[in-house]
Amino acid sequence: MHPEDESPPQRPRWLAAALIVAVLVVVAGMLTVGWRTLQADNRESTKIQSAEVTTTSTSPPVAPASPTSPAVALAAGMATANAANCMRCHGVDRRYVGPAFNQVAARYQGRADAVDYLAGKIRNGGSGEWGRALMPRHPHVSEEQARHMAQWVMSLPPATP
Ligand code: HEC
Repeated sequence: MHPEDESPPQRPRWLAAALIVAVLVVVAGMLTVGWRTLQADNRESTKIQSAEVTTTSTSPPVAPASPTSPAVALAAGMATANAANCMRCHGVDRRYVGPAFNQVAARYQGRADAVDYLAGKIRNGGSGEWGRALMPRHPHVSEEQARHMAQWVMSLPPATP
């Protein structure tokens, strides 16, 4: 009925959308596998098998025994904490102005976002979690340094209540 309309019948839009989504899913899957492989390569190869069993995601470690965090990051975290004067107010297992770091480790054990949260707190400061004393801001600490320190704190043997 429309001779001037020579284009083939249009496929439904949702078909195109579904196709795009499918492609994206496949690409994301391949990226994830590649990323996992890289991560696994960074670990000691002998530990890969057990690590894959215990860690199903790339989220930061919450348990001290978790092997996902390279020892290098923990060493860097400890060194930064010493250099950035954190130990002026914190002890590893003794409370001064702020909580002992092993108390912090114990408190956030079950929290999946512990490293993110603590890294944010280290940079932004705050109070009210452990009392009224103020944890100062540390704007000169980089995000990576803050994450390393948070990882180090969470890697400490947690204090027993
Ligand atoms: C002037 C003293 C002081 C310094 C210096 C200091 N802190 Fe704190 N920190 C505190 C206090 C006080 C708290 C408790 C804050 C609260 O109750 O919310 C705290 C809390 C924390 C917590 C737990 C946060 C929470 O919400 O549970 C972490 C982790 C921490 N500090 C790490 C660090 C690191 C890393 C540094 C060095 C970059 C540092 N602190 C330097 C006083 C200090």
